[in-house]
Amino acid sequence: MSHFQFRGDALYVENVPLAAIAAAHGTPVYVYSRASLTENYRSYADACRAHGRNEQQALVCYSVKSNSNLAVLNLLGKLGSGFDIVSGGELLRVIAAGGDPRKVIFSGVGKSREEMALALSHDILCFNVESIPELHRLNDVAAGMGKRARVSLRVNPDVDPKTHPYISTGLKENKFGIAFEDALATYRVAASLPHLEVTGIDCHIGSQLLDDAPLLEALDKVILLADQLHAEGIALHHLDIGGGIGITYDDEQPVAVADYLARLFARIDRWRAEKHDGKPIVMLFEPGRSIVGNAGVLLTEVQYLKHGATKNFAVVDAAMNDLMRPAMYEAWHGIQPVHRRPAGARVYDVVGPVCESGDWLARERTLSLEQGDLLAIMSAGAYGMTMASNYNTRGRAAEVLVDGDRFSLIRRREAPAELFALESIPD
Ligand code: LLP
Repeated sequence: MSHFQFRGDALYVENVPLAAIAAAHGTPVYVYSRASLTENYRSYADACRAHGRNEQQALVCYSVKSNSNLAVLNLLGKLGSGFDIVSGGELLRVIAAGGDPRKVIFSGVGKSREEMALALSHDILCFNVESIPELHRLNDVAAGMGKRARVSLRVNPDVDPKTHPYISTGLKENKFGIAFEDALATYRVAASLPHLEVTGIDCHIGSQLLDDAPLLEALDKVILLADQLHAEGIALHHLDIGGGIGITYDDEQPVAVADYLARLFARIDRWRAEKHDGKPIVMLFEPGRSIVGNAGVLLTEVQYLKHGATKNFAVVDAAMNDLMRPAMYEAWHGIQPVHRRPAGARVYDVVGPVCESGDWLARERTLSLEQGDLLAIMSAGAYGMTMASNYNTRGRAAEVLVDGDRFSLIRRREAPAELFALESIPD
């Protein structure tokens, strides 16, 4: 059930009218629903329990890059979540939010020595390594600290996720992962390095997948590789199948998490029973969008209406710097009025104040608007605030978390002077 619903003509999040949040904290403001975040996280955790796995046997490592606000991380951590990070900065966020670093996995193609040392000093669960030079660097850093780093190799199964080309990562031509045909040889290198401990296989094929067939195809390839490694005496602690389950932005019908995980655990159980005497293997997941995407909206105010011969524009106070997805991927986000008007609908392009033709948030939407109206840009909880920038010296939006009939400011709006406070003019 969506926690963003109309009551009469007013749009509510849980029991709070969105208009009350705009009145208290101004616009643009991201608004997240705690109930929605909790339900979405639980759709994973409950499915794992339903298939007989406790937290030690199946761990959700929420992908921090999708929404990294401390309050969101804190909530998910309290619910039991681990975290998938891609930088030292994200690790520091997880720790600042009270998350458990021993439930952290570190992904990404370009980890620096400093980031590796930071993660090792916090004894993270696993590094997802993407190349042979990275293996050598990690071995070296761990040696210098007298430690052994737990590693997975991120393999590239060459499966087509059938999603937007910018967010598909599992094909041969992508920069991500180790080519499947090179995986075995790369594992041999990893196993030979004394300061590395091979613990898993990792794979992530893309984002906003509506069908789980490509994920299960990737899983089959990972299982094949696990058996090859087993035959060579390389024992694995876990398989990490990444994130990628999509959400409804418009009328998409993504696979339900419970159905996907039922199919996934059925395969795992059959495989373990047939080939490994039923000995279990730990499963890790790295979902981002499916936990936060539909749990957030971006609230914005109409500044001006421009009615023209061929087009009408609604100029709002949110822009591409606040929500990059339309400009970057031509992504479609629903637009809802915060207060519905009975008449006067026209077709509008909803655009921001940034000086770029690409600064649009929605195109050709039928809306009934007046200057000063509030609009909610829907499904903006994932890759919204985390991809925001200060382009045009615009302070980033505030963020608010709603819980029932209460709401809290979880990030205040940036003041313009803060945006150049780190700069200096040479003598
Ligand atoms: N694991 C890895 C290694 C990833 O690269 C990603 C996302 C995830 C997990 C989480 O995937 P999710 O469950 O959210 O699909 N900015 C784009 C999406 C980029 C996704 C990057 N990787 C967008 O706004 O659509």
